[in-house]
Amino acid sequence: MSAALVSFGPNRQRHRRDNTHLGKGTAGTVADSIIRLQDIGLTLTSRAGAVEILRDVSLQITAGQSTAIVGPSGSGKTSLLMVMAGLEKATRGTIEINGHDITGLGEDDLAVLRGRDIGIVFQSFHLVPTMTALENVALPLELAGIEGAFETARQLLNDVGLSSRIDHFPAELSGGEQQRVAIARALSRRPPIILADEPTGNLDGKTGNQIVDILFGLRERINATLILVTHDERLAAMTDRVIRMSDGRVGSDDIKRPTMRAVTP
Ligand SMILES: Nc1ncnc2c1ncn2[C@@H]1O[C@H](COP(=O)(O)OP(=O)(O)OP(=O)(O)O)[C@@H](O)[C@H]1O
Ligand SMILES: [Mg+2]
Repeated sequence: MSAALVSFGPNRQRHRRDNTHLGKGTAGTVADSIIRLQDIGLTLTSRAGAVEILRDVSLQITAGQSTAIVGPSGSGKTSLLMVMAGLEKATRGTIEINGHDITGLGEDDLAVLRGRDIGIVFQSFHLVPTMTALENVALPLELAGIEGAFETARQLLNDVGLSSRIDHFPAELSGGEQQRVAIARALSRRPPIILADEPTGNLDGKTGNQIVDILFGLRERINATLILVTHDERLAAMTDRVIRMSDGRVGSDDIKRPTMRAVTP
């Protein structure tokens, strides 16, 4: 990966990183909670009746932490991620994202919050098929009215090793290349939070490893909080924290490396 990542220069530093008003830790440090879920429940109604998808989930995710959500198929991992992204409305409980209580927000406000604070990487990429790689990455920047959207997008595609593919449509790219475009797009606005649902799930092992390197590398560069759903225990082992879901509940929560930040007085 290019060391440049110049698109992430100082003029794009405007997103608030100091959540020091949240969760003071010991003197001189804070454990900033960038995501707080309190007593979250999600019940969906199918033809078979009501299904309890998430039950009593309470979590605080520290800013800068990398977290893996693991667990068996159907245990509620994707649902939990969708609730955090505001893409699925919780039936019960409260959600705070980056200092904002989003529990009662409508779709428009949620869309603004997502655009600003959250980058989402899906297993199946979700690229716009009628747009080139460059246009896909520039899209969120253009929508936000950010100047130099195409130049930034071009640099980002260079950073993920795709400078020779910028004019390709998604159908003209391999799975790994599409995922790299999707990562560049998700991170283009330097979101403080990255949510990734099985980002390597559709890729072969070698390509998956490249994607992991790119995702973790960019994430470190922009100092974002990363939450990823994965079935891959090796990938989970790379994160600071592993949350194991079981039947819609948090079965275990293993914080391997606490993330504490120094506070400048
Ligand atoms: N719209 C819906 N209506 C009813 N039940 C649903 C709906 N969507 C998902 N479910 C159920 O919710 C449960 C949790 O689904 P979820 O997609 O969160 O699981 P997951 O842990 O991500 O699984 P996987 O590892 O297979 O992706 C599953 O039992 C699923 O069948
Ligand atoms: Mg899932």
